[in-house]
Amino acid sequence: MSFLSIDNLKVDYVTDDGIVHALNGVSLELVQGETLGLVGETGAGKTTMAKCIMGILPKRTGKIRSGEITFEEKNLLKCSEKELQSIRGAQIAMIFQDPMTSLNPVLTVGEQIAEAVENHERCGKARAMERAEEMLELVGIPAERVHEYPHQFSGGMKQRVVIAIALACNPKMLIADEPTTALDVTIQAQVLEMMQSLKRQLNTSMLLITHDLGVVAQNCDRVAVIYAGEIVEYGTVMDVFKRMKHPYTQGLFSSIPQINADVKRLNSIPGLMLDPTLDVEGCRFCDRCKYATEECRINHPELVEIESGHSVRCFQKK
Ligand SMILES: Nc1ncnc2c1ncn2[C@@H]1O[C@H](COP(=O)(O)OP(=O)(O)OP(=O)(O)O)[C@@H](O)[C@H]1O
Ligand SMILES: [Mg+2]
Repeated sequence: MSFLSIDNLKVDYVTDDGIVHALNGVSLELVQGETLGLVGETGAGKTTMAKCIMGILPKRTGKIRSGEITFEEKNLLKCSEKELQSIRGAQIAMIFQDPMTSLNPVLTVGEQIAEAVENHERCGKARAMERAEEMLELVGIPAERVHEYPHQFSGGMKQRVVIAIALACNPKMLIADEPTTALDVTIQAQVLEMMQSLKRQLNTSMLLITHDLGVVAQNCDRVAVIYAGEIVEYGTVMDVFKRMKHPYTQGLFSSIPQINADVKRLNSIPGLMLDPTLDVEGCRFCDRCKYATEECRINHPELVEIESGHSVRCFQKK
């Protein structure tokens, strides 16, 4: 059962340099209990999508041109700010790209977790503090540290606190935007493992944003590859990893360094992502694609299902 679906979402930012087309008709579904990975290089539109789901797109510059985001049969894009406030945190929580800045340095970690609890559950301070201690234990921090301040914790622990805050109200869905990028590799793995086990315990669904395919392989059920504001490939992790068809997905894979290969340089995809202020007719990836033909420059490919549950946006489907 899909309980979050995004349908044909188009988002622009109005800037001094022109109109940035950040999302160009994105459609996605999240199934209850699953983890969907969203991968793509910088500027592809991942955070923009997350902000649309949370209803926190910057009001002055961010413009939703079309689309629907349906969460439990409600179109989030039509909800009032008041309705959104009751959904945010309690039903859908987000961990931001730079988690270290989302903690308040002048409040203890306990106060910050308790605050999240109090905002959504009508319970007293004492109960909220108890819940904060439970949450700390759950993310692997001893409850007696509840009265300490963020600066007394290491980076990995601060990130655990951020996760505890996000999960304190037992949301149905968690959006994790590059949750471990700021951590060193060993801590990254620990934090991800902990998120996975909590997710299973609480039966939370998760949208996991990353540009690391290894993270996708280890944590996700399905994956959506996004390029220049469009989903270019979508399917189960197994299908996409075994039989990837989009040249961009293939490029992402070949840019992973092989431990046993004698490579001096990463085999990255040549070229830059398209200027997002341009209006394009053809395929958005064609300038960087070695298979591109005349057709690719003239016509815009649709996302086509090539096998059950596996879709690709490419005329060549190599
Ligand atoms: N507030 C904003 N004002 C103007 N343009 C913006 C704003 N936020 C994002 N953009 C532009 O929208 C496009 C998508 O940005 P977004 O932050 O969603 O990408 P991303 O996939 O999250 O990238 P990253 O991996 O670097 O986090 C980019 O071209 C970006 O420059
Ligand atoms: Mg981002």
